[in-house]
Amino acid sequence: MKIKSENSVKNTQLLCGFVLENSNKVLGLKKFDSKTTSAINQSLKDMEGKLGRFSIIPIPGKKPAHRILLAGIGKKENLTKDTIRNISGKIAQKARELKLKEFSIIAPPNFVIDQISSVSQIIEGSKMALYKFDKFKSEKVEKSPDLTIVVSKSKKISQTIKTSEIIADGAIFTKSIANLPPNECTPTTLADFAKVISKKNNMKCNIISKLELKKKGFGGITAVGKGSKNEPKLIVLEHNRGKSNEKPIVLVGKAVTFDTGGISLKPGAAMDEMKFDKCGGCTVLGIMKAVSELKLPINVVGIIPSVENMPGGEAYRPGDIVKLFSGKTAEILNTDAEGRLILADALSYGEKHYSPKAIIDFATLTGACIVALGNNVAAIVSNDEKLATKIKDASKKTTESIWELPLTQDFMDMIKSEVADMKNVGIGRAAGTITAAAFLKNAIEKTPWVHVDIAGVAWTQTATKEKSYNPKGATGFGVRLILDYLQNLKN
Ligand code: BES
Ligand code: MN
Ligand code: ZN
Repeated sequence: MKIKSENSVKNTQLLCGFVLENSNKVLGLKKFDSKTTSAINQSLKDMEGKLGRFSIIPIPGKKPAHRILLAGIGKKENLTKDTIRNISGKIAQKARELKLKEFSIIAPPNFVIDQISSVSQIIEGSKMALYKFDKFKSEKVEKSPDLTIVVSKSKKISQTIKTSEIIADGAIFTKSIANLPPNECTPTTLADFAKVISKKNNMKCNIISKLELKKKGFGGITAVGKGSKNEPKLIVLEHNRGKSNEKPIVLVGKAVTFDTGGISLKPGAAMDEMKFDKCGGCTVLGIMKAVSELKLPINVVGIIPSVENMPGGEAYRPGDIVKLFSGKTAEILNTDAEGRLILADALSYGEKHYSPKAIIDFATLTGACIVALGNNVAAIVSNDEKLATKIKDASKKTTESIWELPLTQDFMDMIKSEVADMKNVGIGRAAGTITAAAFLKNAIEKTPWVHVDIAGVAWTQTATKEKSYNPKGATGFGVRLILDYLQNLKN
């Protein structure tokens, strides 16, 4: 799909404009001949600008558009950036359904919503909504129609278009690898993806393999990886476009390519969904891809511990005690609490090796997160209020919702072990998301850190609110969030 902007409506197959509730005009639409105008006015009355309603009006002379599509966006006071993103996605899907080659969307004027940001939402919504995971379907989805945005051209607008396309492509890249089935996506496959994106955009890429992981003391990754024939990998990507003495931001992502639970085997129901247990790592890959394409003038490191959690003759067991990269020991009481073990190694490595400004990690870490916050809000846990506030600010802008949970000493006490420095589970099911985060906190000595538990939001689940730009499957949650944070970093 190609995207461009035009000052005025050129000949288009479908001209789309937004309509506020009970409004008698299409936002930003210039005058048409009287016949068309009265048809538009009739449709405006019929659809009332109600959120999500569409009305399509054919134009007899087909000029300057074959059809006009009116898209209701509801009441002005309820209008958010997400409305424009979601409705733009619906429009794009409609254009594809009509088998169009191209369509045009009129950017709403500034007095309704900041025009620069609505141009971004139109692009994010359209691109993400047109992505479909059809790699394994014989019948492929229709080609995506091209998009023209009708808006006064300026340098700022063309810059916004470029940036938004890269951001949307980052999220789509994350979705497309996160959606891969576990037989087609092992830790080695993810490492290969990392190599490809690093080569394309001049990032450093280092893959640490099984033997070296063991030698270097990555006891968590080594233990969890033991049960599978598909060997564990630690993927490290470096984007170095900041000053050479400037501390980087480290991003860590859990990439369990399949989580059976190991010897503490999960029940069979919906176990297939554990192919999505690599989503945190895929999020980091998508962010790194976009960061490098945007050529952001900062240093960013992506660290992705990747394993397959399988039962088997060599698998780690409940009762084992493993030594993590930090030097601390962990008693394994449940092999299904594997994410924290591989993340702890990666977090300690990131802090020790890079002395970063901040560490942010993404992980489909706990089922408890879904119990606490459902399928539309991610949990965050942090050791640094300032950093947490920055991530919350970014979240408001990208409408990827997060909610902070507390991490006090009492929670740290809940993971104390009788026989090792800590245990890999808390006390029963109590505060499962926080006790997992407490385990991670022990891996970090002093660096500001935010942990994002994306268990509920990384892919569409039973209570996921429907969004055009999140078709069934992986959502790419976190990619837009962290790119916003990174773009606004003050150097
Ligand atoms: N990957 C799962 C968490 C998960 C479960 C995410 C369902 C999304 C949907 C994680 O590895 C896990 O199994 N966690 C256990 C921890 C428990 C054994 C302490 C859980 O949440 O049940
Ligand atoms: Mn697990
Ligand atoms: Zn897991």
